[in-house]
Amino acid sequence: MAKAPIKVAVTGAAGQIGYALLFRIASGAMFGPDQPVILQLIEAPFEKPMAALNGVAMELDDCAFPLLKGIVKTSDASVGFKDANWCLLVGAKPRGPGMERADLLKDNGKIFIEQGKIIDAVAADDARVAVVGNPANTNCMIAASQAKRLTPDRFTAMVRLDQNRAQTQLAQKAGVDLTEVKDIFIYGNHSPTMFPSFAHATIGGKAAADVINDKAWLEGPFLETVGKRGAAIIAARGASSAASAANALVDHVRSLVTPGAIHSIAVKSNGLYGFDPEVWAGMPVRTTTPGSYEVITSYEMDDFAKSKIAATNKELVDERSFVAEML
Ligand code: NAD
Ligand code: LMR
Repeated sequence: MAKAPIKVAVTGAAGQIGYALLFRIASGAMFGPDQPVILQLIEAPFEKPMAALNGVAMELDDCAFPLLKGIVKTSDASVGFKDANWCLLVGAKPRGPGMERADLLKDNGKIFIEQGKIIDAVAADDARVAVVGNPANTNCMIAASQAKRLTPDRFTAMVRLDQNRAQTQLAQKAGVDLTEVKDIFIYGNHSPTMFPSFAHATIGGKAAADVINDKAWLEGPFLETVGKRGAAIIAARGASSAASAANALVDHVRSLVTPGAIHSIAVKSNGLYGFDPEVWAGMPVRTTTPGSYEVITSYEMDDFAKSKIAATNKELVDERSFVAEML
């Protein structure tokens, strides 16, 4: 028997990432080739984005995706999030050259207060929320802080783009196929302080550090390249990453609906790996049942890793203090 459609709400649906994302969701890349979807597209309440949203919806129609069972277009979040099973929070300002993602906090934070409240009020009982809009970890914390019905574990932020970037950098350095690189996880903030923990990564089944055999590169240029990749793309393109970000969100959700998948997401830390219990920090998880996960707590951190985790934790705590009066 055919599966019932799930409702997927997407904010910022007519933006750069939205344009690279919606067609992947509608084609089955996110929820699987037998899972019908209804897209509930939410844009800012202005003429230009709403006109663009109409155009995107026309293009979705024109793809004749067999899995796409309906499209809602709205600027009213209480309509867009109604009964949504997944709420993908992409809509927010991107940074420009010379900015850090945290510079967006005051403007974008307000969006996540409102959306957190509305999702909690109207989304489905099994709702899951994935935050992409920057600064993603703290925006996720802000949205979760507004929820009384939905528990904090339902709110995750995306660090998968960083994991994907780290995987590629390790493969290129070792001169191996990407698929040889496993168990590279992102700890902490989606910012230059993030820590891609190379000590636990493997390449072709061996410790990545032994295969690469260049500690100075791993502790220096590797971390720097992954941490500052977003800025490098802004400098090159004049706009922030979009297709790779959309692809990472497909991976984030696909892994979260695939029992047994092991991947990095930012979650409420609850004190794990030395993070402040109230911040949302990237860490490795194993998906248990679709939409649910457990943090993998077995990785031992050496002194170098502990110092990196302390630095990214401090930034998350500072971001939280910066928005404390909004919560
Ligand atoms: P964009 O400016 O192209 O699109 C954002 C869209 O959001 C716009 O269409 C805008 O009208 C809409 N929007 C603004 N406020 C809204 C609201 N309250 N409700 C609904 N829609 C709203 O930006 P983009 O390039 O698509 O990036 C979106 C966000 O994702 C930015 O904050 C960017 O920094 C972030 N981002 C995060 C990652 C990550 O790895 N976490 C990667 C890339 C980009
Ligand atoms: C990225 O990592 O590409 C995004 O977060 C965009 C940015 O501002 O860097």
